[in-house]
Amino acid sequence: MTELVELGIRIEGLSKRYGEGEAAVDALKDVNMSVAPGEVVGLIGPSGSGKSTLLKCLGAVIEPTSGRMILGNQTIYDQGWKLSDLRALRRDSIGFVFQAPYLIPFLDVTDNVALLPMLAGQPNAKARIRARELLDALEVGHRAKAEPSQLSGGEQQRVAIARALANQPPVILADEPTAPLDSERALGVMRILNQMAQQYRTAIIVVTHDEKIIPTFKRIYHIRDGRTYEEAGQGLSL
Ligand SMILES: Nc1ncnc2c1ncn2[C@@H]1O[C@H](COP(=O)(O)OP(=O)(O)OP(=O)(O)O)[C@@H](O)[C@H]1O
Ligand SMILES: [Mg+2]
Repeated sequence: MTELVELGIRIEGLSKRYGEGEAAVDALKDVNMSVAPGEVVGLIGPSGSGKSTLLKCLGAVIEPTSGRMILGNQTIYDQGWKLSDLRALRRDSIGFVFQAPYLIPFLDVTDNVALLPMLAGQPNAKARIRARELLDALEVGHRAKAEPSQLSGGEQQRVAIARALANQPPVILADEPTAPLDSERALGVMRILNQMAQQYRTAIIVVTHDEKIIPTFKRIYHIRDGRTYEEAGQGLSL
C-alpha cells in the first residue's frame, strides 16, 4: 500500500468564484474538508449550495479560485499554483460514479470496466482479469459477458462502481449514486461503497439528498451558500 493511498484527500480554505464584477458568484467560500482512506462521507446541501462545484474541484474538473488541495502526499492546487498534468490525475487518481451508470452500450460489461486501465496502458488481458475480480466482488461477475442493456438498473450501477474502482484510485466521487434505486438497492450500493472503501483504502465522497442513505454515513459535510460544516452521522451498520 502506497503512502499516497494512506493520506486521503484534504482541502483547505478553498474558494471558487464564477464570473467577474457584478456577475460574480462566490460558489465556495473558505471550504475545509478532509476524508481519510477507507472513509465514506456524505455531502449534503440544498440546490445551488455548491455541491457540484465542490465535487468538480475535488475531481480536478474545474480549478478553485484560491485555497489548497492535497491528495495523498501530492499538492494539486495551492493558492493559484496547480499541478501541471491534471488530466493524468483525473485518469489515475479519481474515480467518478454518477446518478446514471453511463455504460458504453457496445462494449460488454467486462470491457466497460477494463477500458480505462487499458487506455492508461495496462495490457488488455491483465485489465480484463482485474475487471472480472471487481465484478465478482460486486456480485455481477455472472453478467460479465452481457451488454449493459441486458442488466437491471441496480446491476448497471454496480458495474459503474466497478469501473470507478478499476484504476484503484485513492479517491472516489459519487454524485447522487442511489437516486434512481429503491431502498433495498440504495442501501446495497452504500454497503458496497463502504466495503470497497475498506478493502481498497479509498476515500469516498457521496453527494446526496437521498433520505434512504443519509443514516449510513458516520460523518457528513453540510453545505449551504458555499460554506461547509461538519456533523457526526448515525453510521448505520449495513
Ligand atoms: N458555470 C457557472 N457559472 C456561473 N455560476 C455558476 C456556474 N455553475 C454554478 N454556478 C452557481 O454557483 C452556485 C453553486 O452551484 P452548484 O452547481 O455547485 O450547486 P449544487 O449544490 O450542485 O446545486 P444542485 O443541487 O441544484 O445541483 C449556484 O449559485 C450556481 O448558480
Ligand atoms: Mg449539482
